[in-house]
Amino acid sequence: MCVEASPKSKCGGKSNCGCGGHGKSAVLDARVIRTIKFGEEAAHQCSCSGGGRCPRHYLAPTGYVLGGFLILHLAVNALALWPGRFQAAVNRLHSLGALLPVLEISLAAVLAFHIAVGLRLMRRDKLKFITGDHFHGSPMRQWLQRVTAVILLAFLVFHMAVLQRWFGGRFDPQNAFSSTSHGIWQFWHGQATGSFPNLLFAQFYLLGIFAAVYHLTNGIATGAEVLGLVSTPLAQDRLWRICVIAAPALLLAGLAAWYAFVVR
Ligand code: HEM
Repeated sequence: MCVEASPKSKCGGKSNCGCGGHGKSAVLDARVIRTIKFGEEAAHQCSCSGGGRCPRHYLAPTGYVLGGFLILHLAVNALALWPGRFQAAVNRLHSLGALLPVLEISLAAVLAFHIAVGLRLMRRDKLKFITGDHFHGSPMRQWLQRVTAVILLAFLVFHMAVLQRWFGGRFDPQNAFSSTSHGIWQFWHGQATGSFPNLLFAQFYLLGIFAAVYHLTNGIATGAEVLGLVSTPLAQDRLWRICVIAAPALLLAGLAAWYAFVVR
């Protein structure tokens, strides 16, 4: 077993996903999606089959698209520190008119695809801690990537059910700040604002923010290696450092929004 494209590689090869099992690189093409192999027969530990398309070739680009949205989402939400500016940003978004549902549906499709591939990838190893140097990053980073994926999945279902208007959620674009704040902080109807159940749900948002920031920043660094965007150890290390610096900045944006919606 070797990591062919990795700089830590013990063998030379053509694969660019780094798992060592592929000769071909994958593109997002409907015809090849059917050929993704999820690894029951895998002999190496990148969680793919070694013979077909590596699932990480699909997780990385879709993760990048989702990441672009997440950064925008956290930045706009941080404006909630100034409710007027937050409302103005929401108004600007909603002035996109018919384009907005198109963008939302496209994003939902990308998310659904990422989740479907991610869950199938995790079906074999689940949340087991797998050692070995076959992952981009490290076994711990890889394990946390999966743990945060599970937390994120639970959080996203909850978050969308509570706020997304398609599912009867409480977000009202006309009253962006107060409707979001009520959705997060008074989730449990009939309970006082600071009651234990409402406190619990507000804490869940904190967990979701931490999980999202880790999953995104670690994923940007490892995804770039998977896609062969950073091929030298120096470039990989530089990108990892940028991600380590970006993580607290994103976390700060998420926590600022949480403070604005929950505490103030
Ligand atoms: C806003 C939401 C999300 C973003 C921005 C995001 C982003 C990313 C990125 C950039 C990667 C890196 C790809 C790589 O290194 O191979 C990744 C991997 C992954 N994501 Fe997500 N993701 C999100 C949500 C989810 C959810 C809800 C799940 C639940 C199943 C999930 C499951 C996974 C899995 C299993 C991996 C691969 C871990 C591995 O290689 O073992 N992601 N994600």
